[in-house]
Amino acid sequence: MNDGRLTKEGIRIHNPDDFAGMHAAGQVAAQILDEVGPLIAPGVTTGELDDFINRRVTELGSTSATIGYRGYQHASCISVNHVVCHGIPGDKVLKDGDILNIDVTVIVDGWYGDTSRMYVAGRASRKAERLIQVTHDSLMRGIEAVRPGATFGDIGHAIQSHAEGQRMSVVRDFCGHGLGRTFHAPPNVLHYGRPGKGPVIEEGMFFTIEPMINLGRPETKILADDWTAVTRDKSLSAQFEHSIGVTADGCEIFTLSPGGLFLPAMG
Ligand code: MF3
Ligand code: CO
Ligand code: CO
Repeated sequence: MNDGRLTKEGIRIHNPDDFAGMHAAGQVAAQILDEVGPLIAPGVTTGELDDFINRRVTELGSTSATIGYRGYQHASCISVNHVVCHGIPGDKVLKDGDILNIDVTVIVDGWYGDTSRMYVAGRASRKAERLIQVTHDSLMRGIEAVRPGATFGDIGHAIQSHAEGQRMSVVRDFCGHGLGRTFHAPPNVLHYGRPGKGPVIEEGMFFTIEPMINLGRPETKILADDWTAVTRDKSLSAQFEHSIGVTADGCEIFTLSPGGLFLPAMG
């Protein structure tokens, strides 16, 4: 595996040394998500949160992977309530009970760290809390399926079976992705699937798992700004994302929260 080769599916196999680069990048992204949490409250705008994130990206010696990516102009995506992903920060004022995903991707020494998590402005409703918990647990079940010899279908199945078992739905229109010295690389990491299907997972693969789970139906649409994805039925949506690297017996999560703050205290 020590050869930086590509699999037949075009998935890069990284060297043991490469894990340190990904760990450093992942930790900067996760630290920024830790730091932004205390700023979130009713009355704050998503643009103010992005300004803070943008400043911290620079202060921590990293660069934003999203500014300039396909014309995107912000250091984060902030997706509130029925926004599924790629919400554009701006003048939107948070109100009590809003739930939001903040997604940050940084580059450190050429390596990409990509992570997102959910936050609440004020107090969330019971159904919103449940959605956040189930989405978090779906991601973690997907991560638990990662080991050499398992398949990407095993990951998708672990996520889908948990979410649908709670009568929630898995978004099909967006997926996780390989990453490393590039932002988006093969494979597409689907958040649904069948056990044993899809590419075989090998030691040295780096990829994200980032399920989007809806309280209602899974269908999405893109707004006229060409970025913001929303649920077609306007139901609430949640997402969590980690960047991981496959080890000999499982995986390393590069984007673990330094402060243990990945899942917000709720209730
Ligand atoms: N961070 C997102 C992901 O998880 C991608 C955001 S691209 C942007 O893949 F341009 F919208 F920022
Ligand atoms: Co991602
Ligand atoms: Co992301």
